[in-house]
Amino acid sequence: MPKISDKGLKMPPSPIRKLVPFAEKAKKRGIHIYHLNIGQPDIHTPQVMMDAIHKIDLKVIEYSHSAGIESYRRKLVGYYQKFDINLSWEDIIITTGGSEAIEIGMMACLNAGDEIIVPEPYYANYNGFSTQADVIVKPIASSIKSGFALPPIEEFEKAITLKTKAILICNPSNPTGYFVYQRRVGNSS
Ligand SMILES: Cc1ncc(COP(=O)(O)O)c(C=O)c1O
Repeated sequence: MPKISDKGLKMPPSPIRKLVPFAEKAKKRGIHIYHLNIGQPDIHTPQVMMDAIHKIDLKVIEYSHSAGIESYRRKLVGYYQKFDINLSWEDIIITTGGSEAIEIGMMACLNAGDEIIVPEPYYANYNGFSTQADVIVKPIASSIKSGFALPPIEEFEKAITLKTKAILICNPSNPTGYFVYQRRVGNSS
């Protein structure tokens, strides 16, 4: 009989998906459910995007470049420049979602047992991603009293050990919505 691996057993369930069976059962009993567990979009997808999907003229859906389509990667360089983040298009890899990007980032930059400092509350699936990568999450608390602003630098410094390899800042933060925006020097707009 095949067994689940040690890592598979250690893997925490996605707290977002864990609630789904409870919600489904409650719905069957006629209870109205507010799905606060998932950020399902309720705004219309821009028409230009819907039109592009409907009018696509492709006979074969084939593999693209493994790092992503070059024209898209070049366009993203301009987007990041608006925030004074200067990248070359070759620095950018396209993934199918945030989860894949974070998992690849952790596995590419951290070894088993390395630590990553993360202000909390944080996106709950970081626990699963770090279990996959054998990485240890070191949370530091942000407070509702300061609108969940990033903790002072001293708190980050206190959490740093010889095993610290990364600090993960989610901007804008999910779930707090806290947003760090640094204006360009000399830009009055
Ligand atoms: C902060 C954060 N990181 C990662 C993810 C995962 O992104 P994806 O659903 O694109 O894999 C989400 C999704 O809500 C998120 O809010």
